[in-house]
Order: sequence, then C-alpha cells, then structure tokens
Amino acid sequence: MALQEKTLTFKNSFFLILFAQLSIAAILFSIFYTNRSTLINQFSRKSVYQEPANISKIILVWTWPFHIKFPLNECPPYTDISGCTYTANRSLYSSADAIVIHHRDVCNSQKQLPQMPRPPNQYWVWFNLEPPSHSPNLHFMDNLINMTMSYRADSDIFSPYGWLETSQQEENFTIPVKTKLVAWAISNLRQHSKRAQYYKKLKKYLPIEVYGRQHLTLQRNKHEKTLSQYKFYLAFENSNHEDYITEKLWMNALTFGCVPIVMGPTRQNYERFIPKDSFIHVDDFSSAKELAKYIRKLDKDEKAYQQYFTWRSRLHPFARTNWQTHYCRVCKALKEAPTQKTISRLGAWYT
Ligand SMILES: *[C@@H]1O[C@H](CO)[C@@H](O)[C@H](O)[C@H]1NC(C)=O
Ligand SMILES: *[C@@H]1O[C@H](CO)[C@@H](O)[C@H](O)[C@H]1NC(C)=O
Ligand SMILES: *[C@@H]1O[C@H](CO)[C@@H](O)[C@H](O)[C@H]1NC(C)=O
Repeated sequence: MALQEKTLTFKNSFFLILFAQLSIAAILFSIFYTNRSTLINQFSRKSVYQEPANISKIILVWTWPFHIKFPLNECPPYTDISGCTYTANRSLYSSADAIVIHHRDVCNSQKQLPQMPRPPNQYWVWFNLEPPSHSPNLHFMDNLINMTMSYRADSDIFSPYGWLETSQQEENFTIPVKTKLVAWAISNLRQHSKRAQYYKKLKKYLPIEVYGRQHLTLQRNKHEKTLSQYKFYLAFENSNHEDYITEKLWMNALTFGCVPIVMGPTRQNYERFIPKDSFIHVDDFSSAKELAKYIRKLDKDEKAYQQYFTWRSRLHPFARTNWQTHYCRVCKALKEAPTQKTISRLGAWYT
C-alpha cells in the first residue's frame, strides 16, 4: 500500500515536470511565432536587421469573393507585391499577417468570421465593392477591422472599379463609328428602382436599346463591338452613394467610347474622378424630357458631340480591374500600415 502510494506520487511529479517543460516550450514557441513581425519591426528600427527576402508577409484570403477563385500572387506592377505571399489556406490563419474579409461572404452570420483566437498584430482588412444599400449587417464588423478596402476614395485601401491614366504623349483618339443613339445594358432591373422609373420616362422621348435578361442579347465577347456603336450609354448605378461609380461608367461607357449619361452620386462627386466635359448627368436637367431634348440636339450637332471627347487627348480610362487586382493592393498597404488602428463603427462611415 505504502509502496504503491510512493510510486504514484513519483509518477505524478514526473508527469507534472514533463508537462511544465512542454508547456514552457510551447509558450515560448508561440510567442516567438506569433510575434515574428513585432520582433522584426523592433530590429529593423535599429537598422541592424534586414528582413530577408524569403520572410514574407502572409495575406490570407479568408473567403473567395462570391465563391469565385482567381490566381493568387499574380499581380499587375502598379500593386507591388514584393515581400508578400497570398494564400487561401486557412491552416495559415495563426501565422497570417493580414486576413482579407469580403463582406458579402460573411455578412449572413458572424460564424463566417474566424472563430479561432485572433493572433496579436494581425490586420483584418474589410473588403467590399458593393454599395451600403447592398451591404447588410455592417455592425458585425464593429471593433474588429483594422483597414478598409473599397471603392470609397477615403478607404484605407482605395480600390476603385476604374480610373483615368495620363497619356505619355498626346493621343489621337478616334471616336468609334456611330450608327445608333442610346444603349443600356442591365442584368437586374427592379421596376420600382429610381433608375427604372427614370428609364420609363426617358424612353417616351428617346429610343433606348436595352440589353440584358428579357431584352436584346449582349454576346459575351462582343460587348465592345456592340456598345461602341452607340453615341450614348446609360451608366445608371443601382443605388446612389458617395464614390459609387462602377464598370457601367468605366468600361461600358468610357472604355467603349460612348458618352456616359450618368445617374449615381452628384455631378460634383463624379468630377473628382473624371473631367466635367466627359459626361452628362441626369441632374443637369429638370426632367427626363429635357434630357431627351438635349440628346436629340447633340445627335444633330457633330461638333458639340465631339466636345465630349476632347479630354481623350491627355487621358485614357483604365477599367480592367478584377478580383485579383483588388486583392493585390493589400500587400503595399500592409507594409505601410499604421501600427494601431481599429474601426469602431464601420456603419457610421459606410453610408
Ligand atoms: C494548407 O497548409 C497546411 C499547413 O502548411 C498544409 O499542411 C496543407 O497541405 C495546406 N493545404 C492546401 C490545400 O494547400
Ligand atoms: C498624333 O498626331 C500628331 C499630330 O497629327 C502627331 O504628331 C503624333 O505623332 C500623333 N501621335 C500618335 C500617338 O499617333
Ligand atoms: C486591430 O484591431 C483589433 C481589434 O480591435 C485590435 O485588437 C488590434 O490591436 C488591431 N491591430 C492593429 C495592428 O492595429
């Protein structure tokens, strides 16, 4: 009996010590591992340590946006992803320097957000290209997010649908041959939306050719060929919010060489991104009827119509953005990120 007890005590303390040692090792390992970037930062401040090229920041794509996969780590030069590795492998969560959370994939349930303990120094980047009216449950994000990435110009990472680039030399832009008047491509027309109402009024005074479901077919690889024949394109956004200007303007109108008739944020807001003489805003007119009158006038006045293209000698539109190019912006932003920042109420800003 006594012997047995002694053996037990001995056994217990042996395991206790073993357990203690293992725990210490595990704690040391995890401190070093999770604080890797902090340690490197401290060293580099003293400039005795250069971050080796093979140690890179890990950026975890938390969900494929709308389940759409795309090649990671293949980025356009303007994004500069040196020193970063992108992955979609969630096993790397605890060593990721940043995770990118695409709002629409997680906004139905908070359980879609990471459930594991959040490593210190990990940045959570909130990514969204949808307007506020199509972005439910913004409050899920309160006090979680360190950086925002969206079409809003005041995002931490501004990632617009398109932009204008300055031409190296004067360009001799040729307006595509025009045989038709007004086009509109629309995939989802809700009858009571503002743009549907406006369209209904406008078509009373102006022939408008509509492409999309239940309308004319816009063939996949013939968008440019089809739309560039029109003098004007209705770049009507699905809702009106600051800076919310999509491919409807950048691709369908400007890139394809049609004069955009825009509905979205204010004219002033558009003028932050494109020249004032490059587009027609529905708000420039007191009614759809007045707008129609003006379009008909321009249709007969070639000189006046051409004025809408004078800016093309200095600038050209860039609209070839896609999921890849948006995510590619995270690397540079992460390298320049503030050491401490949390967005307490996302919904107060994203309106
Ligand atoms: C994810 O990463 C883990 C840990 O590095 C690795 O074992 C696993 O094979 C990876 N999975 C995929 C699908 O690449
Ligand atoms: C555009 O036209 C100007 C004058 O006609 C000419 O000097 C210039 O080389 C042209 N530029 C291009 C890119 O063709
Ligand atoms: C990011 O936000 C979280 C949540 O508020 C915060 O704990 C963390 O310190 C922030 N990290 C950085 C690097 O700003």
